Amino acid sequence: MNIKIFINGFGCVGRALAKIIVEKRDVIEKKYGLRIEVVAIKDSRGAVFSSEGLDINDLLKLIEYPRSSIGLYEPYGRMDIGLDEIYDQCSPDIHVELTPSNYDGGEPGISNVLYALKRGANVVLANKAALVYKFREIMGIARKKGLVVKYKATVMGGTPFIDILLSLKTIHVSKIYGILNATTNYVLTYMHRHLVDLDEALGNAKSIGIAEKNPIYDIEGIDAAAKLVIMSNTLGIPLGINDVMRTSLRNVSLKDIVDALRKGEVIKYIAQIDFEEQLAEVAPRRIESNNMLAGIDGLMNAVVIEHEYGNIFFSGKGGGCRETASMVLEDILSASMRGV
Ligand code: HSE
Repeated sequence: MNIKIFINGFGCVGRALAKIIVEKRDVIEKKYGLRIEVVAIKDSRGAVFSSEGLDINDLLKLIEYPRSSIGLYEPYGRMDIGLDEIYDQCSPDIHVELTPSNYDGGEPGISNVLYALKRGANVVLANKAALVYKFREIMGIARKKGLVVKYKATVMGGTPFIDILLSLKTIHVSKIYGILNATTNYVLTYMHRHLVDLDEALGNAKSIGIAEKNPIYDIEGIDAAAKLVIMSNTLGIPLGINDVMRTSLRNVSLKDIVDALRKGEVIKYIAQIDFEEQLAEVAPRRIESNNMLAGIDGLMNAVVIEHEYGNIFFSGKGGGCRETASMVLEDILSASMRGV
């Protein structure tokens, strides 16, 4: 069976996804009988599309194309093209929403996802903001239309944590806490190891390309708060981004780090939801070095789920273009296998 996908957003995750599709397409076809056809890719200024599917050579060239200019790619490129024309020409089965998350209202992610559902496409997201603002509405529309919305890449980037939450059907969860933002964890790890201040460590994090397009989202705890919102809604418990109290990582000085280290402690940027106390927050916390979260360094994320029968500890890569793209592809396959 051919699965036609439309990649909306062609930054580092979109490019990594195209590369992984090129690498794994034959294996996927052999193992699952699914042929992934990329029928369209759109960036902020233009798009390429072909109802037959772009071939491997096109995809490989597009991965190397300058940012925001794929519309110039011959012969499939077009500048200034809207979703209507892409959908009319290509009828994608799966819309992959990879536009950057915007926490000033959630656009363009919200409109793009609602449009895709209206046109009968299943949706896979790495964009978090659309779910943060419209989780219930999006899921409700999808359910009514018999479509699926998958979003594993939105929390813990390269680690299938959302699947764990979705698997808890009757188990009562009382609290979830952990390290949910890779950029700030990298920054804190760098500060502890090199004894430098936050700006110097952040400069280093930006250079390895893991920060949000707007890195304020990482440093002010907005990205981690967004992930708490998605996690809570996944468990069926409504939570809005403004319900999450946030303390900026900017409050952590080099002196705080040195003080913590002298006492055998470390500082981590901890996100938590306490469902019993109805409290959600993201804040820097001092933790003892024998705490399970103390050893979660660099780009790793980790989460503890406290539930009625005990605890689950889950850890894995939290960011990175290829890692995040790997989860997007997993979701494309799960969406396809339920009979797209
Ligand atoms: N900026 C995010 C982070 C990317 O650092 O965790 C992954 O969601």
